[in-house]
Amino acid sequence: MPTRSTVILGTGSYAPERVLTNAELSTKVDTSDEWILSRSGIRERRIAAPGEAMSDMAVAASRRALENAGLKATDIDLIVVATMTADLPMPAAACIIQHKLGVSSNAACFDINAACSGFVYALDTACAMISSGRYQKALVIGAEKLSPIVDWQDRTTCVLFGDGAGAVVIGTSDQPNIGLLGTKLGAFGDSVDLLYISHGGSSSPTTPESIAARGHCMKMKGKEVFKLAVRVMDEAARDILEQHQLRADQISLVIPHQANLRIIEAISQYLELPMERFFVNVDRYGNTSAASIPIALDEARRSGRIKPGDVNLLVAFGAGLTYGSALIRW
Ligand code: COA
Repeated sequence: MPTRSTVILGTGSYAPERVLTNAELSTKVDTSDEWILSRSGIRERRIAAPGEAMSDMAVAASRRALENAGLKATDIDLIVVATMTADLPMPAAACIIQHKLGVSSNAACFDINAACSGFVYALDTACAMISSGRYQKALVIGAEKLSPIVDWQDRTTCVLFGDGAGAVVIGTSDQPNIGLLGTKLGAFGDSVDLLYISHGGSSSPTTPESIAARGHCMKMKGKEVFKLAVRVMDEAARDILEQHQLRADQISLVIPHQANLRIIEAISQYLELPMERFFVNVDRYGNTSAASIPIALDEARRSGRIKPGDVNLLVAFGAGLTYGSALIRW
């Protein structure tokens, strides 16, 4: 079977209405707009409404991506959802999203948890399944409702995260050498303790005591994560460029995981690529984990920053610590 190019046919994103500004956060924990902005570049983040599920946000983003691709839900035969905040521990969010969207029961549906690198992992997985010829059209979603797993009493983490969703529709093209050119995925499992949730998994189920101790919320060693993130993102970017014999200056736009403006600025320096070549929206959404790259990708496309022939570099890192980079030619 000839290898087919796997291409992005449409993108969509969704952010909940509720805006939580740094000023408002400063009334809840001992912090300030100045501290948050100078350390992270974040001005505000979105918070899902109480009854608004992660799957609702994913469905809204997916509808926009389908509309953008000129396709219907019934055209989809594969849904891959990158998330660590599925509506329920079981079943997969992909199945709930399938039902809400009206996707056929012939579609394969599953979730991937690679934390903030999840979208790059999901994109790679879906593209491999599409290029095999066994699936035709995929929805690849990155969606997170992080607000219930943020410790709102811990000022060292709560200022950084937000809720949101992004989606892309994947299909094929006969044109060679376009779409997803390649990916580089990996993980440092020896660094699990840098960013994790201690309770609610099978090794330490939730108890009344663990809830009281907020064991269901994210814990992070911020400084260590920062250092590793810069090194790992730089290496993941260099590896994929080298693999495809491209120079950094041939990348028209880098779409990095939006965790911290200072991390993005450090990558810009290391790659010797000016910040104008980096898409940044961390100021408006904070870190939305697996949703951050597909939201950024959609906003970059809709604001005219991606043109035919452009090559984009996606690069991410997250809990695990996982990392991933991808090259896309439009
Ligand atoms: N407001 C005010 N002060 C705060 C604060 C807040 N929200 N959070 C922490 N501080 C205090 C700390 O208590 C500490 O005080 P101390 O020195 O008296 O102990 C001090 O600020 C730490 O400041 P600093 O060393 O300048 O922090 P930093 O430059 O390391 O920035 C992070 C902190 C969390 C913003 C940064 O480490 C980071 O972004 N890490 C990566 C996190 C990340 O990306 N996670 C997601 C991975 S996908």
